[in-house]
This record gives sequence, C-alpha cells and structure tokens, in this order.
Amino acid sequence: MRRYYMGLLLLLQTLASSNAEGTQKVLANSKPNGQKNGDQLHADIATAQAGERLAQDGDSFVAEALSLLRSLHQPSRDRIRKQQGLTATLLNLALKAVPTIRLSEPQAAESSSPKANTLSRGLQEATALLETAAARNNSDAIYLLAELSFYGNYSYPRDFKAAFEYYHKLAELNGNSSAQYMVGLMYSTGVGGAVEPDQARALLYYTFAANQGHTRAEMSLAHRHQAGIATPKSCEMAAKYYKRVADKAMAWYRSGPPGGMGWIPESYRIADESGGVYGEGASVSSAGINAIKAHPNSDAYASIEDIIEYLNLMSEKGDFKASFNLGRIFYDGQRGLPKDMGLARKFFFDVAQKYWVKGRPIQNPKPGLDKIAAKAAGFLGRMFMRGEGAEQNFDRAKFWFERGALLKDAQSQFGLGLLHLHGYGVKRDVAEASSYFKAAAAQDFSHAQVQLGALYLDQGGTEDIISASHYFELAARWSNLESYYHLAELNYFGVGREKSCSSALGYFKNVAERAEPFVSSWAEANAAYEEGDTELAVLEYIGAAEQGYEKAQNNVAHLLDPDQSRLPIPDWLFKPAKRPELLDNPRLALMYWTRSARQGNVDALVKMGDYYLYGLGAEADVDKAVQCYQGASEYQQSAQAMYNLGWMYENGVGLDQDFHLAKRHYDSALEINEEAYLPVALSLLKLRARSAWNTLTHGRVNSIRDEPVEKKQWSLSEWINNFLQDDGQGYYDEYLDEYYDDATMPGGDGPDFGGGAGGGAVGDDDEDGLVESLVIIGLVSALAFLLVYRNQRQQEARRRQEQELLQQQQEDANRLGGQQAAQPPRFPEPGDPNFWNPGGMLGH
Ligand SMILES: *[C@@H]1O[C@H](CO)[C@@H](O)[C@H](O)[C@H]1NC(C)=O
Ligand SMILES: *[C@@H]1O[C@H](CO)[C@@H](O)[C@H](O)[C@H]1NC(C)=O
Ligand SMILES: *[C@@H]1O[C@H](CO)[C@@H](O)[C@H](O)[C@H]1NC(C)=O
Repeated sequence: MRRYYMGLLLLLQTLASSNAEGTQKVLANSKPNGQKNGDQLHADIATAQAGERLAQDGDSFVAEALSLLRSLHQPSRDRIRKQQGLTATLLNLALKAVPTIRLSEPQAAESSSPKANTLSRGLQEATALLETAAARNNSDAIYLLAELSFYGNYSYPRDFKAAFEYYHKLAELNGNSSAQYMVGLMYSTGVGGAVEPDQARALLYYTFAANQGHTRAEMSLAHRHQAGIATPKSCEMAAKYYKRVADKAMAWYRSGPPGGMGWIPESYRIADESGGVYGEGASVSSAGINAIKAHPNSDAYASIEDIIEYLNLMSEKGDFKASFNLGRIFYDGQRGLPKDMGLARKFFFDVAQKYWVKGRPIQNPKPGLDKIAAKAAGFLGRMFMRGEGAEQNFDRAKFWFERGALLKDAQSQFGLGLLHLHGYGVKRDVAEASSYFKAAAAQDFSHAQVQLGALYLDQGGTEDIISASHYFELAARWSNLESYYHLAELNYFGVGREKSCSSALGYFKNVAERAEPFVSSWAEANAAYEEGDTELAVLEYIGAAEQGYEKAQNNVAHLLDPDQSRLPIPDWLFKPAKRPELLDNPRLALMYWTRSARQGNVDALVKMGDYYLYGLGAEADVDKAVQCYQGASEYQQSAQAMYNLGWMYENGVGLDQDFHLAKRHYDSALEINEEAYLPVALSLLKLRARSAWNTLTHGRVNSIRDEPVEKKQWSLSEWINNFLQDDGQGYYDEYLDEYYDDATMPGGDGPDFGGGAGGGAVGDDDEDGLVESLVIIGLVSALAFLLVYRNQRQQEARRRQEQELLQQQQEDANRLGGQQAAQPPRFPEPGDPNFWNPGGMLGH
C-alpha cells in the first residue's frame, strides 16, 4: 500500500514538468507537415517531447567529449555495405556459411576488468570532460554518461549502479522521458544488480515516460496493463497505450516512399534456430502438432546460400523463373541477408529483357515467360516509383507498370492505382485509381485491397463501411500491416460493428510490434548477438522484452538460462569459460520465462516448471512445478512436460508415487512426439523394472497394470503380425513373463533372488542419466538370467512332478477307466492382465 502513496506523491511532483511538455507538443504538431521521412518524424516526436533545447552550462565540454569519443575506435557494428558484384556477394555468403565456433566471449572477460586498465587515454579525457559537465547539471553529459555506463559503448566499462544514478539524476532534473524510461526498465529488471527489482516503481516510471509520449515506455506500459504486471489487467488501458504506439508506427510507415516503409523483420527466437528451448524434437516449437513449420526464411544461414547458389546456376542456364526468384530474394532481403537493390534490379531486368525485345513482346515466348516477365515489370516499376536501386522516377515507373498491367500483373495494376491516387507523374484521378485497385484486389493483392477499403471508408456511408471492412479482412488474411491497423480502429471505435476492446488490442499490439525499426532495437540486438557480444545482446533484448515482444522475452530467458550454458561436452574435457556476472541471473530468466509463458509459449511454461522444481531463480516449489508441467501437457502439447510428470510420478516428487500413472505419462510423451523415443524408451525400461520390483516386494506403490481398453481377444493372425512387428523381441520376453508370473504369484515357490541382486540401486531415484539406465538394463539382464536359471531348475522339478503326476493319473485312469486330457502349454496373450513385457516400450 505504502508504495502506492509514494507513487502518488511522485506523480504529483512530476505533473508540473509533464504539463509544460504537453503544451509544447501541441504547438509542434500544429506545424504544417508535408512529406517527412522517418528520421524527421523521429526528430519531430523527440523535439515535441523535449521542447526546444536551450544552451546549457557545460555544452562545450560535451561537444569536445563527443568529438573525442567519435575519434575512438568503435568496433564497427554496422557492417559497411558496399555495392558488390554478384560474385562478391556469393563469396560473402559462402564465407558466412562456414561454421564458426564460438566457445567463449573474450569481451566478457575484458569488460569485467577494472576501469583503469581498459580506459584508453582518449576515453579517459572524454570521461573527465563529461563528468565536469555533468557536475554542472548538463543534461546531455548526464545522459551520455548514463548510456556509456549502461551499454558500454566505446569499450567504456559497464557500471550499472553508475548508469542508474545518472539516469535517475536526469529524470529528477528535468523529467527527461528517456531517462525515466530507463529508470523504469532498471527497476523492472534489476539488471546488473543496480537496484532491487521493484515492479511498482517500474510501473510508475514507465507511466511518467509514457505520458510524455515516450514510445517504448508506452509499449512497455501497454504490455503491463495487458498482462497484469504489478497492476490489474485492463484491456482499456492496454489498448489505449498500444493505440498510441500504433498511431505513431502507422505515421512512420506511411512516411516512407509510395507504398510505405520497407524493412527486414528482425524479431526471432534464438532458441528456435536450434530446434527450440529443449532442442530438436523435445521442444514444442520443433516437434508435435504445434511445431513451427519449416519456413524458407526461418534459418537464414543454414540454407539461403544454397538456394541462391542453386538459383544462380539455373539462372545462368537461362531459367527465367530462377532469375526472378533471385530478384525477389535480393529485393526482400531477410534476417542475415541485407537487401541488395542493385542485384534485384539486375535480375528483374534480365527477365524483362527475355520477353520485351526492342520494345515489344517476342513472338513465341516460352510457356510461362509472359507471367514472370509481367511480375518482373511490376517490381521494376515499384523500384522506380520508390527510388530503390535507382533514382525515383515516376515516368519510368509508369512505363514498367503499364507493361505489366497489359499482362494483368497485380502489382503493376496496384502501382498504376497509386500513381493515379496521388497524382505522381500523372493527373490525379481517384476513380481511375480505384478501378486499378479493384483489378488488383480481384487478384487478391492485399495492398490494393487495403487501398480500396480505405477509399470506401472515406465515403463513410453504412454500405461503404461494410465494403471497407470486407476488404480489410481480405487483406488481413495476408497479415497486411495497414489492414490490421484499420481493423483495430474499426473495433476500437465500434465503426460498422460492435466495439471490441480485445480485438482492437490484438490488432494494435500486432501493428506496434511489427514496426520493429521504429519502436525497438531488434536489429542492434541481433547484430550484437551475432558478433558474440552476448551481454550487449541481452541488454538490447531486455528492452524489447519489456515492450512485450514474446520472442524477446524468450531470448533473454534463453540467454540467461543456466541450463543453456552447459555444454554437452563433459567438464573434464573442456573447462567452460566463467559466465559474466550479467548473464548469471536466474531470477530474471524465470521472470521472462513466466512472461513468455503467459503469452502462450508452452516451452517457456515447461521451463518455469524446471526452475521451480530445482529452485532456480525462486524458492523451490514442487507444487508450482507440477502445475506448470500439467498446464504444458494439456491438450497433448509438450512431450517434455508429459515426460517430467511421468518422472515425478515415478519418483514420487511432488506427486504421490504411482508407477502406473508414470507409465501412462511416459507413453503419452512418446505419443506426442515420436522423436523422444530413446529417452522415453530408457525411462520406461527402468520404470518397468522398478514397478516389477515393487510388485515383487509387495511395495505400497501402485504398479503398472494394463489398461482395460487394451483387453481384446486377438486373432491368431493379428498376434503373428504383432509378433513380427515387434522385431522378434517379443517372444523371448513373453516366454520369460510366464515364469515371472509364477514367481510373483502368492505362494509361488521361486527362490528369493532379489535381495542379492543389488535391488537397492533400483529403488534409487536421484539421477535420471544414461548411466543409470544402463545399470538398470544390466540389472534387468541379470534378472532375466536368474529367471531362466530358476526356470530350468523349476522345469526339472516340474518334470519330476509331472512324471509323478502322470504315474498317479495313469493309476487313477486305470482305476476310473477315463482319461483327462493334459492341458496344452499356454501361449501368452498380449491382452492378458498378467502380461509383463520389459521390452514392451520398444513396440508401443
Ligand atoms: C544541479 O541540480 C540539483 C538538483 O536540481 C541542484 O540541487 C544542484 O544545486 C544543481 N547544481 C548546479 C551546479 O547547478
Ligand atoms: C533526454 O535527454 C537527452 C540528453 O539531453 C536528449 O538527448 C534526449 O533527447 C532527451 N529525451 C527526450 C525524450 O527528451
Ligand atoms: C551506445 O550503445 C547503445 C547500444 O548499442 C546505443 O543504443 C546507443 O545509442 C549508444 N550510445 C552512444 C552515445 O553511442
């Protein structure tokens, strides 16, 4: 409660400053705004928030420090992208494909060494200058020092306590929203141990910053209201803040060249590159019904080089489809493969030249060439219209669009529509534009559908709104960004439909998150990660995680995961590098696993269970672990969770020990995910042995029984089929079983062999390793041997008995004059309730 009072107090304190900012903003926004590019917009928003900058005491020091810093060698993060020929590009790609082995991060060691050693002279001078200016309350100096201490730019040693002090000082000094946001972030995460995590204060500082229009703070706040972090869940509040971000994101998108901003999506889960948090097969993301389907863009490095190489080969042989696809790849770019407009243009041009010779179409084009050439023309038009890979030139754009449109290419029709809609190089003509859009929309071209929807929406009649809605929904099938925004607005304001906060929220969140370069630092984070600077990557991902990107939450948790740092190589072979302090933070990892799980990531939910089970990042709490696993195993989602539950039943951890239920869970794990075959098979083997032992010793644990459903009389042919499918392992085991049954039967006369066979080890339940499984296998073999041995002795005894019996019977028969048929030896049936099959899991 106290926290909230304090919060109110602080709120009142800063209200004065934020009021002043508010008026500034209105003034700044009322400026006539023509076509702005993204940077200008950024700058506008920034000045709108900060107000005009007045000259400050110490500005000259800051200027000098900055020029000093810039002259320092900054490890080049942005790779210089030269215009390259195709061979150079291919060579580059080939080089990238060579696997690089990163065993440890040398930077990590450096950054933790004492300040004096690493500060170069230039850096020392710059720092001194900045500190002088900061002492005079120069806001730029304070902010710069804060950033250097937080991110460690220019190899400045990271010092989170100092960073916090600086950010905090600046936030107090003039209510600078960037500083408030960072204070909020540090309170939320407690990163680097600068402050104790305090979600209430984090919320407070995010609120201050958000109310001054700080985009990242708005998004972080929206996420908190949506997920209910340190505040009750509120769709209204979440939608309100997400809408603010989405509005700005849309303005940014539309400030791009005709057709909107273009960028390469950078958000991804690091874990997914290696098959998910639990590796290939065991993770929900890579196995079972919910596996992420292989996507051509999903593993940028693994195969794109191969694809390009192959396409290039085909293209050189004159395959126009290959040339076109190469053009698309270089035009779109993807994570790890920057766009290359020059190459894209070259390939599109190659294709077009195959069809249009000397200004007219060739006589007998190869089948399909006209379609592909039209598409290439559409892209060439688009590139001229947007000024990509060439000077912007509407006439040439129109030229190519018209060529494409003659062949009914949707992109060309859409392009002509845009030219007419805005009067680029032609007379403005909305009717003409809409007829082009209609033609393209009829071919399911989502951008045209959105434009058409917007035109309908502008007319504003009831029927128009229905049509608009219809077109937006058509485009939304292609997850078109603008259509999401329109649908969000329609839902938010209840235009042409019932108001729906939750739908609006979903769409707004999507729009906000997709405008990655505008709202987040995904690209910087990925670059840092790829360069092996895991610490910086974590710091950058944390920002995106706070903003509510599930993938970023997953990445932070994954990079901080103590389990993930464990190499599959044993310690005595390879001494792992010491983890940097920043990465040794299971509490934070658990926090982000939790948030990732709340956004529906099942693997993260299983991870939470692990953390609670082992007491990582929180007090060990077996009940919570069980809850997590049960949640994750619902609807047959996570094989890993099923397996863990089976293990808990087997060992009586958190659940009452029950071998039968354990087996059922192991079986389901296998059902969900066939790839988990080996570990499950081994565990089942061990479980069988323990269960048998339990039965044998009349243990109190519920042993494995057969499911009643399986009780089915099998026909002989079925049985033989099964037998054959069992790879022949069945017969011997079943043969064994019969005698095993004898032994467990009440009054069975088998010798008590168990005690000496090291039965204690069977009952141990500490580790689940392979070694133990092998020991179990050994024990089972020993058991088998003993059984066979005992069986032989029994048989001898029985033979003797039988002979006696026979003699007796003969005597009896002689006496009674009748004869009883001897029972044929019983063939075991798989459905038999006493059917025990130590190798059974191999067949199940
Ligand atoms: C800097 O600001 C703080 C807090 O506003 C104030 O107490 C201090 O006197 C200022 N220092 C200078 C040198 O102006
Ligand atoms: C906060 O202060 C720094 C340094 O003066 C400035 O660069 C930045 O633009 C400010 N942020 C905002 C949102 O005003
Ligand atoms: C320091 O590095 C961070 C992260 O790369 C970056 O966002 C920030 O702009 C840099 N600041 C300066 C002053 O270079």
